[in-house]
Amino acid sequence: MTLLQAQNVRKLYGGFCALDDVTLTINNGEHVSIIGPNGAGKTTLVNVLTGLVRPTAGNVTFKGYNVVNLGAVRLARLGMARSFQLVNIFPELSVAETIAVAAISHLRHGERFFSSTARNRPLWEIVERVGAIFGFSGKLDQPAKILSQGDKKLLDVASAFALSPEIILLDEPTSGVSTADKSTIMRVLVQAARQMGIKAIIQIEHDMDIVFGYSNRIIAVHNGRILADGSPASIRARADVMATIVGRQYDHA
Ligand SMILES: Nc1ncnc2c1ncn2[C@@H]1O[C@H](COP(=O)(O)OP(=O)(O)O)[C@@H](O)[C@H]1O
Ligand SMILES: [Mg+2]
Repeated sequence: MTLLQAQNVRKLYGGFCALDDVTLTINNGEHVSIIGPNGAGKTTLVNVLTGLVRPTAGNVTFKGYNVVNLGAVRLARLGMARSFQLVNIFPELSVAETIAVAAISHLRHGERFFSSTARNRPLWEIVERVGAIFGFSGKLDQPAKILSQGDKKLLDVASAFALSPEIILLDEPTSGVSTADKSTIMRVLVQAARQMGIKAIIQIEHDMDIVFGYSNRIIAVHNGRILADGSPASIRARADVMATIVGRQYDHA
C-alpha cells in the first residue's frame, strides 16, 4: 500500500533552509499535486524523494529501500521514474530514440545500447507501445527538436513512462504550454497511467484547474514546509492555503 515515505526531511543550502521537517507517505492509487509559490521548495522536495538530492536530515524510502545512494538507474528498476521542470530534448534524436534511451535502463542491458538498438526487439516493442499510448505513432521517426512545445513536454512524460514505473514524479508537466495543450497532456497522461498500471502519480502543478480537476490529494508547500496535505475538498476549506497559495488564480471554488 505505501510506496514512498519521507520522514522529517530537512534540506539546507548553506544557511538557507529549503525543506524543513517534511513528513509524508504516498500510497497506491494516489494522484498527488504538489502546489506552492515559486521558491517554496517543491522541486527540492521531488529531488529528495527521487534520490537526486541528499537530505541534510531525515530519510526517504521507496518500497522500503532508502533512496539515498540508490542512483537513478537502480531506482528506475525498482519502479520509480521522473521528469524535469525544463524539458531536456536531445536535438539529434528522433522521437523513437528519445523513448528508447529512457526505456533502456528498464531492460537491464544499457551497456549494449549503442551496438544493438536496431536489432533489439523488446526495446522497440516498448517504444512502439509507449509511442502509441502517447499519440506519437506517426511521429516516431521525426527529430524530437521539430515537435511542438506541447509534444516536447509529452515526449518527456512518455520517456518517464517508458520505464514502466510504479510511481512517477513529474515536475510541472503542463508548464509553458497553452491551456488546450495542458488539457491534452493531462488527458493522455492519466490514460497512459491507467493503461500501464502506474500505481501513483506525483506532479508539481501551478494550474489550479488541473490541480483540482485531476488530483485526489493535494500537498501545499510554503517556505519549505508542508502547509496542508489532504483531499481537494479539505484544501478548498483551508482559508490560509487558498489565500497564500491558490489565491486569485482559482476563484470558482
Ligand atoms: N542547489 C541549490 N543551491 C542553493 N539554493 C537552492 C538550490 N536549489 C534550490 N535552492 C533554493 O531553495 C528554494 C526552493 O527552491 P525550489 O525547490 O526550486 O522551489 P520551487 O520548485 O517550489 O519553485 C529556493 O529559494 C531556491 O533558491
Ligand atoms: Mg520548481
